[in-house]
Amino acid sequence: MSDSAGHILLIDDEPAFQRLGANWLAGLGYRVSLAGDAGGAVERFQQLRPDIVLLDLAIPPALTPEAGLALLLKFAGVPVIVVTGHADHALALKATEQGAWDFIAKPIDPDMLGVVVGRAMQKSRLEQELRLLKSQSVDDDLGIVGHSAPIRQLRDMIRRIGPTRLSVIVQGPTGTGKELVARALHKTGLNPSGPFVAVHCGAVPAELLESELFGHLKGSFTGAHRDQPGLVQAADGGTLFLDEVGEMSLAMQVKLLRLLQDGSFLPVGGREQRHTDARIVAATHRDLQSMVADGSFREDLYYRLKGMVLRTPALVERREDIPLLAALFLRRTAGPQRARLSPEAAAWLMENPWPGNVRELQSLIDCAAALALPAAGAGVEITMGDLRFAQGGSVAPGETHRRTLDEAIAALEVQMITAALGEAQNNRSEAARLLGISRVGLLKKLDRLGLR
Ligand SMILES: Nc1ncnc2c1ncn2[C@@H]1O[C@H](COP(=O)(O)OP(=O)(O)OP(=O)(O)O)[C@@H](O)[C@H]1O
Ligand SMILES: [Mg+2]
Repeated sequence: MSDSAGHILLIDDEPAFQRLGANWLAGLGYRVSLAGDAGGAVERFQQLRPDIVLLDLAIPPALTPEAGLALLLKFAGVPVIVVTGHADHALALKATEQGAWDFIAKPIDPDMLGVVVGRAMQKSRLEQELRLLKSQSVDDDLGIVGHSAPIRQLRDMIRRIGPTRLSVIVQGPTGTGKELVARALHKTGLNPSGPFVAVHCGAVPAELLESELFGHLKGSFTGAHRDQPGLVQAADGGTLFLDEVGEMSLAMQVKLLRLLQDGSFLPVGGREQRHTDARIVAATHRDLQSMVADGSFREDLYYRLKGMVLRTPALVERREDIPLLAALFLRRTAGPQRARLSPEAAAWLMENPWPGNVRELQSLIDCAAALALPAAGAGVEITMGDLRFAQGGSVAPGETHRRTLDEAIAALEVQMITAALGEAQNNRSEAARLLGISRVGLLKKLDRLGLR
């Protein structure tokens, strides 16, 4: 029997129909697997990953159509053809409303079955191809750009483990897209419309982190004037992103462990455990395994977090992605004005060591584009001089005639402001503090420089 026509999971409790249906379908060249009850069906589905499912809506143990409909949800991503017992049209319609691809009524006409199954199979194949193409393309709806092997693999893994409840550690050097990956996991997750809540474990002082994460009750400490829910609660039904989890104190690690074990946590000053079903994604630039070895990270927590480890590679490990990324950032900054890189500038980008990785590339391009655009207008070329100026602020000979002093000062402002915003993760108050100006002052500059 050839597998080329596709693989069908046939779920029905009547041995007679199982035999008959399986024979018909095998006769059309399909591979058929059988299940006779709900539990077995889900198990076989997960094991076998069939192309389509043929589901009798009245199967044991519950034998109610409602239970059959609940079962439909378990077969997400694969077309399901519903078989109804007594030409029950209302039920069949309800099933299609709830995501079934099509329905067919017993007694089954073999020709009709062939047509319906053929169409479902076609749809399944198209969807599989689309998924494959998406994971291989240079850019996709995950926002993770690149066509290098490690990036394609990363996207593929995200698509696979996104829709599970596995906790994930995203590990990689600074500026390599760890947060981007965490957001992509959320987007492909079981509830993308749920909240995505990010906590920077290193930025919050240790003594505040507990209350920030778990919330506190009124009167639990001086200044706690009312009950305050924490971020863990805010992430219920969505994703809790623990950024720089390696910076967390050992005392907090114990509390986090409890959260990972059974989703329970205790607000500061509280006595009753609360519960969250947030999915946990953690990121770190540190090597957690060696932290475990030297005792600064709990081993039990490490293994709880590590449902899966995703690595974001340094930019120099995937230099072939640099032109794509540069083009993307140019498009974003220059918009319809269409800037391009001079050949010399493009070559230099490929050779630069990029210690700050994609973030560094992005702020350099943003800055160089902002410098070059006001001077030259549409169709501008970004030269080596612009890049050097954006990077170090030095003016190369022959560059002076291209801009006035005001333009050069504005350029320096752009450069420092973009760098500060990057460092402050787009927090404007923090960026203003880094620059030694007021928040209002920063906002005015952003407006004047067209950086809003
Ligand atoms: N593959 C990529 N495609 C498009 N943009 C990317 C990619 N990787 C990173 N970026 C961009 O680079 C910037 C830095 O990414 P991100 O903040 O996710 O990195 P990070 O690893 O969390 O950095 P840090 O360690 O400094 O927190 C972001 O603006 C992000 O959108
Ligand atoms: Mg980050």
